[in-house]
Parts: sequence; C-alpha cells; structure tokens
Amino acid sequence: MKALVLSGGAGTRLRPITHTSAKQLVPVANKPILFYGLEAIADAGITEVAIVVGDTENEIRQAVGDGSAFGLDITYIRQDAPLGLAHAVLIAREFLGDDDFVMFLGDNFVFGGINDPVDQFHKERPDAQLLLTRVPDPSAFGVAELDDQGRLLRLEEKPREPRSDLALVGVYLFGPAIHEAVRAIEPSARGELEITDAVQWLLERDRDVRTTIITGYWKDTGNAADILDVNRRLLDLLDRRVDGDVDEASEIVGRVRIEAGATIRRSRIVGPAIIGPGTVVEDSYIGPSTSIAENCEIRNSEIEFSIILRESGFDSIRRVEGSLVGRNVRVSMAPRLPATHRLVIGDHGQVQISS
Ligand code: DAU
Repeated sequence: MKALVLSGGAGTRLRPITHTSAKQLVPVANKPILFYGLEAIADAGITEVAIVVGDTENEIRQAVGDGSAFGLDITYIRQDAPLGLAHAVLIAREFLGDDDFVMFLGDNFVFGGINDPVDQFHKERPDAQLLLTRVPDPSAFGVAELDDQGRLLRLEEKPREPRSDLALVGVYLFGPAIHEAVRAIEPSARGELEITDAVQWLLERDRDVRTTIITGYWKDTGNAADILDVNRRLLDLLDRRVDGDVDEASEIVGRVRIEAGATIRRSRIVGPAIIGPGTVVEDSYIGPSTSIAENCEIRNSEIEFSIILRESGFDSIRRVEGSLVGRNVRVSMAPRLPATHRLVIGDHGQVQISS
C-alpha cells in the first residue's frame, strides 16, 4: 500500500498565517500538523509516500525532506492549482500505479493513527473505504447518507442542507478503481474535481464502497479555533521534561516541557505547556494549553491557551488567551499617553482588544 498526502491548497481560512507559510506546517505542540500525519502513515507500515504540493512546495520540501527522518521514501508531485482532491489523485496516477493507497489530507489530525482502517482495508479489499465521524456542523464537510443497515447511499460535498451529521474524515482508502472514477467526473460548481463525486461515481456503478464510523478525536485544522483545540489535546499527553535553564525564582507546575536552550527567569509556567529552544521567558506567566515555539521572547506578559510561532515577542502584555500568533510578530505596550492602540497587522488579521 502507498500513501498520497495532500499538502497543496490555499489555506484561506487561516490567513494571515498562510500568507507566508503552508497551513499544513502550522505547529501544534511545537510540531507541524503534517508531521503527525506522516508519522501515522509510517506507523501503519507504509513507506512509499507522495506529497502533493502547490505554491508552498519549497517550504514543505524543506520541512519534510526525503522522508528518511520519518522512515518514509517521499516523492513530491506538483499541482499547479488547487483543482480538487480528485485532481490530486489524477496527477498522481504514475506514482500510484495500480496499488492500493491511503489518501491523507495534510491538514487533518486523527488521534490514534490509521492502523485500524488500514488493517480493515487489507482484510476486505473494497474499491473504496471512507472514514466518517459525527459532527455538529456537517455542511462544512463532505457528508455521507447511510441506509438502515449502515450501507452508503449517497455522498455530497458541503451540502447546504445535509442529510446526516456524518462528515467525511480526511483519510480515504482506495483500490485502483478510483482512477477510472477521477477521470470520468466533471468539476463541481466550485470548480474542483471532488473526491466525493468520484466515490459517488463508484457507488452508482455498484462498486464496493464501505464506510467506517470513527468515534475517536478528529479535526480538520482549517481554522484557528480547531488548531488551538488540537494543540490543547496534544499538550494534555505531554510528559514533564525540563531541559532548559530555569532560575530559582521561577515555578514550573505540572506537565511542562522546557526544551534545551530555553531560559526561564522569575516566571511561573503552569502546564500542560511547551517552551521551544532558544526562547526566553522573563517575569511572565505561561498558562495551560500553550505552545511557544523556538527563539521567542516573552517579557512581563501573561499568555494562556495559545500558540506562538517562532521568533515572536511579547513585552508587557496581559493577558493573551485563545490566540494564534505567527512568526516574527512583536506585541508590546503602547506609551501611556496618548492612550491609543498602534497596529501594524497583515491582511486578514484578526485582533480583539480589551481596554
Ligand atoms: O477535512 C475533511 C474534508 O476535507 C472533507 O469532509 C471534505 O469532503 C473534503 O472535500 C475536504 O474539504 P476541505 O474544504 O476541508 O478541503 P481543503 O480544500 O481544505 O483541502 C484539504 C487538504 O488537501 C489541504 O491540506 C489542502 C489539500 N489540497 C486541496 C485541494 C482542493 C490539495 O493538495 N490540492 C487541492 O486541489
């Protein structure tokens, strides 16, 4: 079995973070979301992997390399425009050959990995196997309708009026029949070749399409709230490890990881939280569910339930909560007079000021 990992696309819902970087590389618990997917693939015993990339190809290549760090042999496939998930399968035809494969959306997070669905697919060898999960807002996803016996009746991509609350999870298992389907379908109203249409095509031709409803934790990390939630869940599993330099005047409470090369002075850090290498925290409070990446400077500030990307700085700010902050950002106090807010924020930024 091979794997096809989709890491192209535009990431519009995560702007401005994705103006300058790939959404699949946004770190959760200080590790890019895409890496968790690659680890799950390796853990399922798959080694031959192609990553579909778009405009952010260079950044993804730089982060992932040839895959050897994951025990994978990685090929890159360039997709000139995000023309749809089925389009990604179309352009990967040569790499995939007639082998079975798992298609994994690079911005999806599946707790517990993919070993079970991969094993089930190996045993049953259907033409397609889809993972479904119940969600409160199905219209944001591909939606499956099942009959009384749990057989798949119909799939619809982001329907305005969903027929069920069963969303398609971004992990799909396919045999070679999918290639005929992706060639046969036409672009949808939004101009994409939809994988849901391709699977619907198989269904209408009585091919063997199966579904598994998963009850474990799954997230499409399309927006900041979802990313913060995945971060919180991952940090909950963290082991305490203090390798950085912590002075006597600081207090480290609970499951906190302080990486080697981090410096903590006169601060209180309450886990679960992670502080990256080269980061300095002084006279500050870092609260639960917070990931601070490498080479940040946090001074005289309070931060909780947030993700701060590398090389950013906070000076005299209390208190930051529920925030996703990009790379190389500076947040500091304005002078007392005049009492104004001074903002230099990129396009599509979102700021809530409490004063
Ligand atoms: O997350 C699950 C959902 O993923 C499913 O429920 C939907 O049926 C499915 O269409 C998909 O919906 P999204 O709108 O979330 O897909 P998105 O455009 O975010 O793309 C998912 C991943 O695939 C993302 O890492 C970008 C990548 N991608 C996307 C497109 C459209 C590509 O590499 N190439 C593409 O052409």
